[in-house]
Amino acid sequence: MDRSVRTELSGSTEKLIRSRRAVRAFRPDAVPHETMRAIFSLAGAAPSNSNAQPWRVEVVSGTPRDRLADSLQAAHAAQRTSVDFPYDEDMYSPVQQERRAAFGTQLYGALGIGHADHAARAAYDAESLRFYGAPHVAFLFVSDRDDARLAADAGAYMQTLLLAMTGYGVNCCPQGLLSFYADTVREELGITGGKLLVGVSFGYADDTAPVNQVTTERAALEATTTFHG
Ligand SMILES: Cc1cc2nc3c(=O)[nH]c(=O)nc-3n(C[C@H](O)[C@H](O)[C@H](O)COP(=O)(O)O)c2cc1C
Repeated sequence: MDRSVRTELSGSTEKLIRSRRAVRAFRPDAVPHETMRAIFSLAGAAPSNSNAQPWRVEVVSGTPRDRLADSLQAAHAAQRTSVDFPYDEDMYSPVQQERRAAFGTQLYGALGIGHADHAARAAYDAESLRFYGAPHVAFLFVSDRDDARLAADAGAYMQTLLLAMTGYGVNCCPQGLLSFYADTVREELGITGGKLLVGVSFGYADDTAPVNQVTTERAALEATTTFHG
């Protein structure tokens, strides 16, 4: 094994991680079922505390996907939100709020939506409940026990899933917004248990869409990471 100091992965791993990005406009082409099975099987290789694998994934395509998109939009129009994990903007520190604002400026800028145009931003968010046009969406549930520790396991699963998709040439967008309609998702899919953390829309990117040209920056290493010893 080569034990020389490495600061960049020469092969596919670095490329895989860096090439994943959130895609917000999809072509309608379906991902072949066998490819989906391979992706979700690979995602299941994610680590979890004591190997408990406390996730449950519901993958939705075709007619159920279309029905669900309609129901989500109806729930949104009726302001029928239902969250399993409460959301409070105050959870973000001032510097995190700055990063969020910078991202918003970039995203809505690419869409030609002005900073103060709250109506257009809201309309875009509502439209995103159709999974940005993606032919598939996966919902990530954790078990009913409301233990914040499960977030680490679910996060590991989600990033493994996103990278598995990227590796198979499938594009995706994690959408926390979908978890604001947890009851609607459960009703449509006939599910009774589990708490909904996030949905992941996936398919093949529409490379002609300006919104898919958005690239995000990251904080400097020192801003997030301290090396002790
Ligand atoms: C848990 C989670 C929830 C997210 N929710 C949304 C969402 O509701 N809508 C959306 O367009 N993007 C959403 N994103 C995508 C982020 O905006 C995106 O990952 C971030 O801006 C970094 O950009 P990148 O993924 O292209 O590197 C979410 C990402 C994560 C990890």
